[in-house]
Amino acid sequence: MRLRTKLQACHLTRPSSMNASQSLPEERQPYAKPQPWGMALDMVVPEVLTDDPLLWAPVGENMWSRPLHLNVSSGFYVHLLKVKRSGLLQRHRHSGMVHAYVIRGKWLYLEHDWVATEGSYVFEPPGETHTLVVPDDCQDMVTLFTVHGALMYVDPQGNATGYDDVFTRIEKYRAHFQAVGLGEDYVKRFMR
Ligand SMILES: [Fe+2]
Repeated sequence: MRLRTKLQACHLTRPSSMNASQSLPEERQPYAKPQPWGMALDMVVPEVLTDDPLLWAPVGENMWSRPLHLNVSSGFYVHLLKVKRSGLLQRHRHSGMVHAYVIRGKWLYLEHDWVATEGSYVFEPPGETHTLVVPDDCQDMVTLFTVHGALMYVDPQGNATGYDDVFTRIEKYRAHFQAVGLGEDYVKRFMR
């Protein structure tokens, strides 16, 4: 029952092979016990790179974000940032670590001399303060970001002017999904 519920939640269909599995060699047999009580539901998000505009919330000029995982119990979120033509993400300081994987295009920080190019992995430690720029010669950038904690928007001297965290992101995605007709509860499928 639990397995069926979970698969329905993920919009996946796969025939059960639990009975047939007993004749398989042990290394091919799935774990036969229930998952731990209280465990959060797993999640599969298909076609993460879809261009369906309903799934991408505008977050700035020429910039969109697609939520993949909004974690309210650990205070982090995973999203895809997409920039068409050049773009700039407002200067900010991170309270937690960030992992980034560049899927398409490239970007840089005004504060560093390196460029994150397609296929790159980037680790940003807590305290990092930077301004993300997609250069003019890049017309299509997509990067997967895992952001822990908060972004504090700052002026050039580091004075805080605002913030974003998983909760402000949830509010923005809720408003977007409501505005495009998917309903504000659509965001819940990404929340754990
Ligand atoms: Fe950042």
